[in-house]
This record gives sequence, structure tokens and C-alpha cells, in this order.
Amino acid sequence: MMNRKIVIGLSAVLITAGLIGCATTISDKEAAAKAIEVMRASFASKGMASIDRLNQDEVQRECTVDAGKNIAPEKAERIRAAQLAAVQRPASGKLIGDWKAGEKLAQEGRGLQFSDAADGPKGGNCYACHQMTPQEISYGNLGPSLYQYGKLRGQSKEIVDYTYNKIFNAEAYNLCSNMPRFGHAKILSSEQIADLVGLLLDPASPVNQ
Ligand code: HEC
Repeated sequence: MMNRKIVIGLSAVLITAGLIGCATTISDKEAAAKAIEVMRASFASKGMASIDRLNQDEVQRECTVDAGKNIAPEKAERIRAAQLAAVQRPASGKLIGDWKAGEKLAQEGRGLQFSDAADGPKGGNCYACHQMTPQEISYGNLGPSLYQYGKLRGQSKEIVDYTYNKIFNAEAYNLCSNMPRFGHAKILSSEQIADLVGLLLDPASPVNQ
């Protein structure tokens, strides 16, 4: 009995060692390339979700390799600054829009999925990742709470600029952010982004009560 237990124990150690051995024979870079290959072979364009979404731009490429941990600091800074420089503003120049329209956009999770109509509603789905108003109790917490965002930060030019730019392109400040690049990826228009800035900064908005 004793010997059998030892044999079983030893096999378990060897199997575990074997698995670890396999896991380390492929680098993160190779694993990422293989994952893309499998995705390309598995997905097909359907409705609004076309296969070209798998084509990565420079930011996505850099942030995919080693989860962006090994980008040289000068390169990271150059790419980040280019993201910030590409932010577009509304033609009116008005960065704080209508908070009521902003709240609708924050609640709206539809848009750009294969089952969505091209001319149907498109939103920011902000509550999927952020707490915003106390009225909405169903929210995700991948992002920080934005409740009382404007009350705590005020409406200085710096804060208004930062809030607009951040929603337009989160990676203009945090290169490998998990937040969608709403303006950059043309999910929302500049005017819609201004409405979301209104939701976060307007003292009358439920975010700031
Ligand atoms: C998929 C998740 C996700 C969604 C959806 C999302 N965010 Fe974010 N957001 C994040 C994460 C994660 C952070 C923190 C990391 C960072 O700053 O990039 C963040 C940060 C922010 C910040 C900066 C907060 C600060 O303290 O400076 C603002 C403002 C913001 N989000 C607004 C929005 C708005 C408005 C929407 C909807 C249009 C939205 N987010 C949708 C994940 C998300």
C-alpha cells in the first residue's frame, strides 16, 4: 500500500512538472500570435461586427504583448501623446453638454454588436464598469466609482479638458486602459461625449447630488 501511494504521489509530481514544462515552452508573444490566429480562423463578419475588428492598431498591439508591461518608457510616452493629440472636439467648442442626454447614453448598452441595427441606438454602457448615480444600483466595478465626480473635482479648465479627453480616448492618459476609446473608436460622437461630461460635471446632474 505504502509503495503504491508513493508511486501515485510521484506520478502526480511528474504530471504537474510536465504541465508546467509545457506552459513555459511558449512565450507570451507566441501565445498572443496563436490566439489571434485561432480567432481569425473562428470568427466571421456578422452584421455590424466585422472581422476587421481583429486588426490591431499600434496601441492595441503594444498592449497585447506581455500585457503592455514591457513597453520602453519613451515609446509608451510617444504613443500616449499621439493618442492625446488625436482627440477631436465638438464643432461648437462646448465640452459640457446636456446631462440628461448623457445619462441616457451611460445607461444604453446597445450598439455595434452583430445583432444591432446600423441605425439603432448606440450608447456608452458606462454603468457596466462604473458606479455613477445612486439611483442606478446595478453597476459593474471594473472602473472606479464616478459618483460625485464633479462635486469632488469642480469644473476647472483642466478637469473639463481631462474628463472630455478621457472619455474620447482613455488611452490618451493611461496607455493600456481597459476602458473603451469611445471617440477614437467612433462609438460615440464628440457631442455625445460632451453630454457625458455634463453627466459627470453638471452640479444639477444626479451624479453630483
Ligand atoms: C469596460 C469597462 C469600462 C467602461 C464600459 C467604461 N469605463 Fe471608464 N474606466 C474604466 C477603467 C478600468 C478606468 C480606470 C483606468 C483608467 O483610468 O483608464 C476608467 C476610468 C474612467 C474615468 C477616469 C476616472 C478618474 O478617476 O479620473 C472616467 C471619467 C471614466 N472612466 C468615464 C467613463 C464613461 C463616461 C463611460 C461611458 C461612456 C465609461 N467610463 C465606460 C473602465 C470602463
